[in-house]
Amino acid sequence: MENSEDISAAKGAQSAKGGPLAGVTRAPGDKSMSHRALILGAMAKGTTTIQGLLEGDDILSTAGAMQAFGAKIKKTAPGQWQVTGRKNWKAEPETDIDCGNAGTGVRLIMGAAAGYKTNARFVGDASLSSRPMARIIIPVSQMGASFVSENKDKSPANNDRLPIRLGSNGHLKAITYETPKASAQIKSAILLAGINTQGKTVVIEKPSRDHTENMLRAFGCPVKVEAVGDGRNRITIERDLTDPDSQLKAADIVIPGDPSSAAFAMVAALIVPGSDILIENVMMNPTRTGLFETLVEMGGWLRADNFRKFSGEVIADIHVKHSRLRGITVPVQRVASMIDEYPILTVAAAFASGRTVMDGLAELRVKESDRITATVALLRSNGVDVEEREDGMTVTGLGYNRNNEYPTVPGGGHVVTHHDHRIAMSALVLGLMADNPVTIDDASMIATSFPEFFDQMHSLGADKLVKTS
Ligand code: S3P
Repeated sequence: MENSEDISAAKGAQSAKGGPLAGVTRAPGDKSMSHRALILGAMAKGTTTIQGLLEGDDILSTAGAMQAFGAKIKKTAPGQWQVTGRKNWKAEPETDIDCGNAGTGVRLIMGAAAGYKTNARFVGDASLSSRPMARIIIPVSQMGASFVSENKDKSPANNDRLPIRLGSNGHLKAITYETPKASAQIKSAILLAGINTQGKTVVIEKPSRDHTENMLRAFGCPVKVEAVGDGRNRITIERDLTDPDSQLKAADIVIPGDPSSAAFAMVAALIVPGSDILIENVMMNPTRTGLFETLVEMGGWLRADNFRKFSGEVIADIHVKHSRLRGITVPVQRVASMIDEYPILTVAAAFASGRTVMDGLAELRVKESDRITATVALLRSNGVDVEEREDGMTVTGLGYNRNNEYPTVPGGGHVVTHHDHRIAMSALVLGLMADNPVTIDDASMIATSFPEFFDQMHSLGADKLVKTS
């Protein structure tokens, strides 16, 4: 487990202005799909093959957790993995279930494990241990599981934090649950618990990423999705556990590139004059393309083509050229489809002419860091004008100057990343168009979602982006 000593000993990084970005690259495997492929593979009968698995630390934590519950996991080549599942997960895993930095990992695995007879203790790193789990504890407790927080801080606001001991007799009750916010993690925890629950498990939600639904179908579990008005969906799985053939069936899963990781090269190319890049194999599921739409509305030259479909997901190649951007008001209905992309969007907004207004972002305060506070600090320390609200931000971009020259930000800031990979990468992209180098305190967390980030940026020509000791 990554402990606080490891984190403080970690190395930083720096980026500075250089030449245009050019070339062809690929985003690493999608993080959301990678978690789900390992978890569903561990629940399924037979051996699941996965191509394109993200080999980031978050996913390796989930792979370790699945092994602790008894699944057999084998890497056969880079990005190619096999998972052999079990009818019943080990009831008493011999080790703690260490989910590292991964909120998606821990919430989905707790949901899945609750459907089995289990007594397991879940732990994570300092960042994950400070994140709220009540959102999944409430519905999965209604199904009959028990969650006991061993967090030393017993105040009511913090009694849902890791370490958490999960207990279940493996006989949950099917529920209908309306999620209080658009959250694929909440929806997925309930659906995964529902796989081993007799009857109809129903989630009513404001739309969120639908990879669990898509992948469940690939593993042989039908999922019904109906619109119920107000833009909400009712999602139903109906399970007959008396059927000896009810266990999920192994699947062959192909994982496309992660649009949330492609976002960094995309914005880098938009802001650095003369840039022209192609990012191949990017997932274009409409529940994930909010940043793409937003950047196009801001005047970004982005073209998606060569559309194809694998494992229920649409994939395309994205061509991006440096563009003259303008600020916009980002529609609040779009938030769920770009929830992880706001830090990097603010970097694009810093170079746009006029104001980019972003609201409906309360959830950003409980991500790997408080992403509103961290993003505001990132921007201000580099001379970018940003207003902070409880659930939003407004960035006033530099636009072109009086001589019609493309802007650079003052830069020179030292950014505290709070163990948050997306804050780290956003700061380093900003540095590519800063008058003074931008430094970050810790680059180690980038490996949770994007271990090849530095290599990718170097291959595109960002040679002033370096790790520092
Ligand atoms: C994810 C859902 C989102 C997102 C996270 C990945 C998922 O979280 O921010 O990075 O894979 O289900 P919420 O469900 O909290 O919105």
